[in-house]
Amino acid sequence: MDLHTTQQTWSRVDDYFADSLVGNDPVLDMVLRSSAEHGLPAIHVAPTQGKLLNLLVRLHGSQRILEIGTLAGYSTIWLARALGSGGTLVSLEGSRLHAELARQNIESAGLSELVQVMEGAAVDSLDLLIDQGAQPFDFVFIDADKENNDVYLERVLKLLRPGAVIIGDNVVRKGGVADPDNNEADVQGVRRFIKRMAEDSRLDSTAIQTVGVKGWDGFSISIYQPGKSDE
Ligand code: SAH
Ligand code: DHB
Ligand code: MG
Repeated sequence: MDLHTTQQTWSRVDDYFADSLVGNDPVLDMVLRSSAEHGLPAIHVAPTQGKLLNLLVRLHGSQRILEIGTLAGYSTIWLARALGSGGTLVSLEGSRLHAELARQNIESAGLSELVQVMEGAAVDSLDLLIDQGAQPFDFVFIDADKENNDVYLERVLKLLRPGAVIIGDNVVRKGGVADPDNNEADVQGVRRFIKRMAEDSRLDSTAIQTVGVKGWDGFSISIYQPGKSDE
């Protein structure tokens, strides 16, 4: 099969699962419409992936979520909906336009009480959270500029409670991550990210490839479990 047919097949299966298991959602449809109308790139997680994030938060019983890369708030809403009423989500976004649109969308989703969008370069926001002694997070979704993924991981490790989960988006990049001829900045960032998690004895990790409406990509998944000697 040529690549075009392959993508059509992946999308058809994704649509089938999204229609069967995820269902229609007027709020999320509106978020994607407003995102497109304002000219934001359509790089949000797929519906089936948003639902996966939502299920992971519920499986884990997470109460404090940190997201790096808000865009229009699509993944934010999937994550925040999984929180109980006492839960909190902090999402970091570098673009003022994206942050403002996301805040509106989060308001429309009725989640403003739980969600704070922090505007500014994510490294600065992470440093601010560290300096402020922010309460530790138990679930982190890393989905911003991939060339900084390793830097984000290093900062995030200072903001976690034992047992926390870290998910990294876009770690496959159409196979680029394992292609020795690919030296794009984002791919190199993902490699440094994977190397750092591999070398850190406090993290237990894997990564999974995915195909679907967003093509061929994947997630990393880590659990943070500091041993006695690390604490
Ligand atoms: N998680 C979103 C998609 C995020 S797209 C979803 O699935 O719905 C990546 C976002 O990261 C963009 O909005 C972009 O503006 C933001 N971003 C890129 N570099 C950044 C940086 N250095 N600091 C903060 N945000 C950044
Ligand atoms: C891109 C970024 C993402 O976070 C994503 O999920 C897909 C694509 C991108 O920058 O191309
Ligand atoms: Mg992504």
